[in-house]
Amino acid sequence: MPVNLRNRSLLTLKHHTPEEISYLIDLAASLKAKKRAGIKGTLLERKNVALIFEKPSTRTRCSFTVAAVDEGGHPEYLGKDDIHFGHKETLADTARVLGRIFDGIEFRGFSQKTVEGLAKYSGVPVWNGLTDEYHPTQVLSDFLTIRENFGHLKGIKFVYVGDGRNNMSNSLMIGAAKMGMDFYIASPKELFPDPDLVAECRQIASECESGAAITITDDAKAAVKDADVIYTDVWASMGEEDKIEARKALLYPYQVNMDLIKATGNENVIFLHCLPAVRGNEVTEEVFESKYGRQFDEAENRMHTIKAVMVASIGNL
Ligand code: CP
Ligand code: NVA
Repeated sequence: MPVNLRNRSLLTLKHHTPEEISYLIDLAASLKAKKRAGIKGTLLERKNVALIFEKPSTRTRCSFTVAAVDEGGHPEYLGKDDIHFGHKETLADTARVLGRIFDGIEFRGFSQKTVEGLAKYSGVPVWNGLTDEYHPTQVLSDFLTIRENFGHLKGIKFVYVGDGRNNMSNSLMIGAAKMGMDFYIASPKELFPDPDLVAECRQIASECESGAAITITDDAKAAVKDADVIYTDVWASMGEEDKIEARKALLYPYQVNMDLIKATGNENVIFLHCLPAVRGNEVTEEVFESKYGRQFDEAENRMHTIKAVMVASIGNL
């Protein structure tokens, strides 16, 4: 069956099949080549997209904006104090209004329920630009970056080190389960992922017959042996700033430093980070600036993958 993502939202990767995820990565790679060749696109001509941000953003905001403009679309940034939503208008009413005016809506904010509500009431595709629970567009970029380095995703040993229960570890675990990766979360027990989500991801791996394995451990050094990819994220996510001192106490043994990179025993291991990074916390300056780092390719790939998500759901294909 040919993949068809027309009018589809992206709220988490749970609802996308492995074939649909591969399709988005392929499309992103071809849009990246098109941009490199200097070809101006028309795939989003006459398309207007609303970009709602309750939390700050550099990469996601810029990626949606440039991606839309590159293909002839119009992005409209709506910051948290720019619209009535969250103040005096209900989610359902705002969603219905935006759905009458825009062809698609991006939302970044706190609650997963908000992005799901926008999708339910707006009648247009809604893309999750990060919530407390999930960050699916980031995973597409991470996977494109891995594919650029290794040529494939299946069987890649991917070790996420650090806060094991945030939006990134959750979303990477879902994506890895779909794409057949050998996926590890190495974190202190206090920050292990929700066991229900781990069980759901193992179920996804088995239903997709992807061959993925999911291991949760508090032994980072053992976990990274033979790793292809080491990934980390901030120790306190947006909205959790008051927890940083407690997290530092728990997470210093999980810092990605050169000892941890060497413990892979793999000179071809790559380091990824969704960014922004706090150097000296989750990653040392030495690793961040080393030959292992691919975080800026990954940041660039946000734009190409987000463009693919919009083109696939509302583009003039
Ligand atoms: N990785 C990421 O989502 O970055 P921003 O917070 O800058 O959008
Ligand atoms: N876990 C981080 C991801 C930032 C892209 C946060 O939510 O702040």
